[in-house]
Amino acid sequence: MSTIMILIPFIVASLFPHFQVSQPLTSSLFAKQGQWNLMRPNIGISAMHMQLLRNDKIIIFDRTDFGHSSIPLSNGRCRIDPYDIALKIDCSAHSVLYDVATNTLRPLMIQTDTWCSSASVLPNGTLIQTGGYNDGERSIRMFTPCYDETCDWVEFPRMLSQRRWYATNQILPDSRVIVVGGRRQFNYEFLPKNPNPNNDYPSAIPFSFLQQTSDASENNLYPFVHLLPDGNLFIFANTKSVLLDYKQNRVIKQFPPIPGEEPRNYPSSGSSVLLPLDENLGSPEAEVVVCGGAPRGAFDSATRGNFMKTLATCGRLKLTNPSPTWVMEYMPMPRAMGDMVLLPNGEVVIINGVAAGTAGWENGREPVLTPVIFRPSETDSGEKFSVMAPASRPRLYHSCAVLVKDGRVLAGGSNPHVYYNFTGVEYPTDLSLEAFSPPYLAPEFDPVRPTIRYITNNNVLGYRVFCYVTFTVPYYGSASDVSVRIIAPSFSTHSFGQNQRMVVLKLSGVTYLAGEAYYATVVGPSTAEIAPPGYYMLFVVHKGVPSSGSWVQVM
Ligand SMILES: *[C@@H]1O[C@H](CO)[C@@H](O)[C@H](O)[C@H]1NC(C)=O
Ligand SMILES: *[C@@H]1O[C@H](CO)[C@@H](O)[C@H](O)[C@H]1NC(C)=O
Repeated sequence: MSTIMILIPFIVASLFPHFQVSQPLTSSLFAKQGQWNLMRPNIGISAMHMQLLRNDKIIIFDRTDFGHSSIPLSNGRCRIDPYDIALKIDCSAHSVLYDVATNTLRPLMIQTDTWCSSASVLPNGTLIQTGGYNDGERSIRMFTPCYDETCDWVEFPRMLSQRRWYATNQILPDSRVIVVGGRRQFNYEFLPKNPNPNNDYPSAIPFSFLQQTSDASENNLYPFVHLLPDGNLFIFANTKSVLLDYKQNRVIKQFPPIPGEEPRNYPSSGSSVLLPLDENLGSPEAEVVVCGGAPRGAFDSATRGNFMKTLATCGRLKLTNPSPTWVMEYMPMPRAMGDMVLLPNGEVVIINGVAAGTAGWENGREPVLTPVIFRPSETDSGEKFSVMAPASRPRLYHSCAVLVKDGRVLAGGSNPHVYYNFTGVEYPTDLSLEAFSPPYLAPEFDPVRPTIRYITNNNVLGYRVFCYVTFTVPYYGSASDVSVRIIAPSFSTHSFGQNQRMVVLKLSGVTYLAGEAYYATVVGPSTAEIAPPGYYMLFVVHKGVPSSGSWVQVM
């Protein structure tokens, strides 16, 4: 332990005189278990899908065929939709834009049904959302962030070649988006579509892996898709996974099934992340983690009123090994419908979900209120997982969670049955938005918390180009305590963060400037396979404590 860590309690005591010096300050409840805050009791809709945009606004939407939400459309507008299964004339909004900085929101207007859809942010910052249900199943919708109150959804009907309901999207190195699967869709397609005048609806490419992994309850929807540094896609569905070369449309590797062979995708609904890709290792290792889920048969069982215990295991697969095999970890408690969110310090928070049952209407029981922090590189088994403070709201089916720039994780949604039911049901529809502050946000870490002051080249991070990040920190350790990381904000829905990724940039050194100021010299990502072009949040991490993020554009 360095001198500075030992000194922190004394330093902090002088900064915060109301703290008692006799108590070791790093053991405050906040520093151990994080902290929850209710941001808004009611955002008007249930947060089924969330995406943070580059202007720190979060686009949130549920579905249009759900009856009246609790927030009206603005300017007296109404949606008139003869195809809607709930309301033909609906003057309520089913999407909102939430401003993180001001904790305010405004309603947005969706025309067609976005239920259980998928999305990616394009390299220019525009969100491209795909599919949904009913009249929305082949729609594409775009949302371009703006700095006033004018931007709204723009819809392009019948643009997808197939219905996409429960599909997963991934942004690709060449800026296209691949849309993988969907209910009864054993294929994938690319966007934007090929501008071929003879073919309005380019056909999808068959992908038999999705057919092979579909069982009686499907259990392979919202497949976990991760873009690997070698440019191939890792795709996990049910219990199996493959490496897909999407350029040649062929599966080039099959991995062993996850031990236990219990399903991990919707409706068993585990979660998955690609662990941080570290450019300081030369060529980064790629490791995927899949956590939680529900046993085979759990969905049928739940519909008959028997709620099986969910899974407490995580499987890790190091894909850059020549013949990868699963390594299992054990969470402190079982969980399905948990969201795995990468934190700026390289840890993973597993948040929301249930200890019994599955995804689907009325199918979840025993909400798990306590998030768990998973430290992938921790070797001490007692420190690998830590149980956090409990949230005040259960978040079951149709809940989600995203990281925001200040390091908090916003959690919202839960609509475990059809319609907005607030009474007469075991778990009412939840319209609130809560923030979980991980332990690193506790004030006793402020003395070692860096603050980003300046990033060269107007926050543009060029591939393999040097970049200088100036930061201040009251009590600096050494260059070995510093890392600079970028995180692509994810599209969160159904317990999976589509496009979520973190790259630890190659650090050449840290130079002292003056006062409390230093600059880190880093190198932009090596390739677009490691970091596809687009907007990322950049964090400086010092002694495990992250700065607030700054948006950078990788191009
Ligand atoms: C980003 O690109 C898309 C697709 O080409 C386009 O529709 C959108 O308007 C662009 N957004 C911005 C901010 O330029
Ligand atoms: C839920 O809401 C719908 C629509 O308002 C209603 O038909 C249904 O009976 C409600 N269910 C319960 C359990 O209250």
